[in-house]
Amino acid sequence: MAVDLLLGLQWGDEGKGKIVDVLTRNYDIIARFQGGPNAGHTLEFDGIKHVLRTIPSGIFHPSAVNVIGNGVVIDPVVLVQELEGLEKFDIDYRSKLILSRKAHLILPTHRLLDAASEASKGKAKIGSTLKGIGPTYMDKTGRNGLRVGDLELDTFETRYRALAEKHETMIRHYEVDLEYDLPEMEAEFFNAVAKLRELTFIDSEAYLNDALKQDRKILAEGAQGSLLDIDFGTYPFVTSSNTTAAGACTGLGIGPNRIGEVYGIFKAYTTRVGSGPFPTELFDETGERMAKTGNEFGAVTGRPRRCGWLDLVALKYAVQVNGVTQLMMMKADVLSKFETLKVCTAYEYNGEVIEHMPFSIEKENVTPVYTELRGWDQDLTELTSADQLPQELQDYITFLEKHLDVPVKIVSVGPDRTQTIYR
Ligand code: IMP
Repeated sequence: MAVDLLLGLQWGDEGKGKIVDVLTRNYDIIARFQGGPNAGHTLEFDGIKHVLRTIPSGIFHPSAVNVIGNGVVIDPVVLVQELEGLEKFDIDYRSKLILSRKAHLILPTHRLLDAASEASKGKAKIGSTLKGIGPTYMDKTGRNGLRVGDLELDTFETRYRALAEKHETMIRHYEVDLEYDLPEMEAEFFNAVAKLRELTFIDSEAYLNDALKQDRKILAEGAQGSLLDIDFGTYPFVTSSNTTAAGACTGLGIGPNRIGEVYGIFKAYTTRVGSGPFPTELFDETGERMAKTGNEFGAVTGRPRRCGWLDLVALKYAVQVNGVTQLMMMKADVLSKFETLKVCTAYEYNGEVIEHMPFSIEKENVTPVYTELRGWDQDLTELTSADQLPQELQDYITFLEKHLDVPVKIVSVGPDRTQTIYR
């Protein structure tokens, strides 16, 4: 039995939450492998919208087990808020949610360090979600971090204090104006830690490998997107984890030979939240129309997302880096009623036309080369099968498939789990 992966191929917000929710009925275990509460996975069904931040999107499934893997960073305060949200809907998470002992903890001072670091960068800021992600991963690789398993030890509070004090010195070093009430933040943190201790902590790599031996089906759920990957993304405007396929191996303790299907999720156009280069970004009414029709506001921060045409140079790169075997195209409905659609198939890069992702895609180096395709006039949101898709949309998909050499298996035509078309 293999582990299938589900990954975002752009700058995040591709709609992974919806697809995991649609796919969960085929899996026994859903496992998150990286990132933290910088993610906001939105699921819509029965007329209700749920946003998950750390908890895997299989939590609404009646029987799937949901694992928060070692590669994830957990903020107890946010996780407890998520649990309280589930309690409102009578979701019995206690029997269905388990945490890796090796997952690192986000402390209140990590959040402050994130804010201080961003404030000190001025115009060069990353546009971080300020959830403490970068500083927590820095402590992980710097070998200073605190992990879920440490909550089971008597030394936790002493070690917490030592690390928080070190952080306070670092915060002062930034010399930025930051208003905060640390004792209040710490009281909230320790209340949340007490609730976290009621959950099940496991050695998740052993659990998952045993599950594979027992032929249980596992879906690894990625967060953010490939272009935000710490190695392959648009560095330094990236997040601090490996969002690409290899991250599932290190973030769950699964051997590469156990990976099965790699589902790559992308929007029919492109969006980005936060700073950083975006070659096909639109600054005109077409971009505004995409943002409005697509309701492009961040699920975590509420920030408006930048919008632009589909970038096949970047998408092809993401398909390669991840070894994508099946594609899923989201938000096709948002492109309805455009007379023509543009797709970027190459970059003019320092006077040369190239089709691969270069070292830097900053505006001054890159101009997109577009192919124009015909748009469709029809509303897609009520469609239920592939043969009902308008010819122009079928042509759009065929164009992408030829370019990317991977089939598009799902076309999403609306946010609800029922608005999903299989090809
Ligand atoms: P951080 O991971 O919160 O430090 O943010 C780093 C960059 O990644 C910023 O540009 C964020 O806007 C972006 N980012 C982080 N998480 C997400 C996400 O889930 N969706 C989209 N962008 C994200």
